[in-house]
Amino acid sequence: MIELGPGTGVFTRALLERGVKPENLALIELSTAFARRLEADFPGVAVHNRSAADLKEMDLFGGAPVGAVVSGLGLLAMPDDLVLAILDGVFRHLKPGGAVIQFSYSPRSPVRTGVLDKSGYGVERVGRTYRNLPPAFVYKITQG
Ligand SMILES: C[S@@+](CC[C@H](N)C(=O)[O-])C[C@H]1O[C@@H](n2cnc3c(N)ncnc32)[C@H](O)[C@@H]1O
Repeated sequence: MIELGPGTGVFTRALLERGVKPENLALIELSTAFARRLEADFPGVAVHNRSAADLKEMDLFGGAPVGAVVSGLGLLAMPDDLVLAILDGVFRHLKPGGAVIQFSYSPRSPVRTGVLDKSGYGVERVGRTYRNLPPAFVYKITQG
């Protein structure tokens, strides 16, 4: 499993608590400060202090594809080209039928329509919680 933009590691901790083995998790975090903290907090988990846009050229798990990618990236705040580079790279690491599970505070698609039109990726809302402030939504991004 790959997590994009793990930040302080809230989702990382939840994934490990739910049984994902540390050696089966790779974290891609752009901020060096967060990456150092993640390395200290999650021994055995591979932390890559890189942009998720570099995924297309990264070798993870010896080239073995993963079933899911979890993302806390703020895709709506990123330019279209960067979002496309990230998604194109991500899908190189996903098994056929695999998906990106994307967390967002937006009740609308976390990927702009222009990017979806250009790429053919599909977005579906699969969860929400109003107990979070602001309310949070969970989306599944697939290859369409
Ligand atoms: C909204 S925060 C995620 C919060 C995280 N779920 C937590 O619990 O702390 C987004 C994270 O994505 C990271 N980030 C932003 N752009 C990135 C990129 N291009 N590649 C990888 N990480 C990125 C930020 O440094 C930040 O840690």
